[in-house]
Amino acid sequence: MSWIREETPPDENTWSERFRKFCANVLKTGPIPKHVAFIMDGNRRFARKKGMDRAEGHLMGFEKLAETLKWCRDLGINEVTVYAFSIENFKRSKEEVESLMEIARQKFTRLLQEKDAIMKHGVCIRVLGNLTLLPLDIQRSIAEAMVMSKDNDKAFLNVCFAYTSRHEISNAVEEMAEGVEKGLIRPSDVSESLLDRCLYTSHSPDPHLLVRTSGEVRLSDFLLWQSSFSVLSFMEVLWPEFSFWHLCAAVLHYQRNHQAIMRARDQHNHEREQALRQADYDSVVAELQQEDPDKTDQLKWASVPSLVRKQETERDRRVQEFLQHLDRKRAKFLDNLVQKSE
Ligand code: FPP
Ligand code: MG
Repeated sequence: MSWIREETPPDENTWSERFRKFCANVLKTGPIPKHVAFIMDGNRRFARKKGMDRAEGHLMGFEKLAETLKWCRDLGINEVTVYAFSIENFKRSKEEVESLMEIARQKFTRLLQEKDAIMKHGVCIRVLGNLTLLPLDIQRSIAEAMVMSKDNDKAFLNVCFAYTSRHEISNAVEEMAEGVEKGLIRPSDVSESLLDRCLYTSHSPDPHLLVRTSGEVRLSDFLLWQSSFSVLSFMEVLWPEFSFWHLCAAVLHYQRNHQAIMRARDQHNHEREQALRQADYDSVVAELQQEDPDKTDQLKWASVPSLVRKQETERDRRVQEFLQHLDRKRAKFLDNLVQKSE
């Protein structure tokens, strides 16, 4: 089954579809979360309930993902991030891990066959996680899909695969440490906002809404850093039974809460910028104090604001170059995989 669900032609629209469209339009009169993250939980419980085997439950989970992507498109949600396979999931039985890898193998291959639809809808696909933990053929299909769609910018699908937040954060810290070691950045350049930009999700805004199905009320090491200001929606429904109406309920929950959360987020960003400015000012003053403790050189002290600006500009340049180096390194990893599969 495919990743991209096409529109039903208007003359084939059923009453229920028309009603859904009407409700989507009503919902769209309010604020719509532009980025929604899903913890697609409950596939095995669903399989047990229906007397299916686990692999079938996961396949139904994939079907639900494809359906949900279409509903998100209809609602104007243009970025979706899903938790498809955690690093912790490698601890499941060999049989289950293999069946999940087989689904991934088939689905990522299928994604490449759907190139025309992906390009038509302008979908950029990113797979986030420690890809080196995956079988090489899956790594290659993933790399091909990412390279093929990297310039698309109408919609974004981030599939977290072999992912945990703690791995992502420690990886970002390692990248920054390596940057310092290589002299690309200084220890004082390390900051909350630089860490943001070293995460696998660096090219995405933080999720506005995070939905977890199956009644579990925890984040299970998913987007821990990025979800500080997300509206969280925990739902009882098992993922394969998730419906358009559950999505609407989650969006309504977002609409009720988004103002307070946005205010807190803006406040945090404002404070973060102020703290950075103050740190720049303090370090310039500390340097001058060392050079001229008695403040005899009036001219030098009068130039503090311009020295602070210079420090900011130089830091921005270093950070920019470091981030470009990081992007090139990640692109090279994918290109090498693509070349191996040719
Ligand atoms: C959680 O349910 C689900 C998973 C661990 C796998 C999710 C995978 C998919 C939906 C397929 C997506 C595939 C691709 C390639 C994107 P669970 O197994 O924890 O079920 P339980 O909570 O009932 O035990
Ligand atoms: Mg589970």
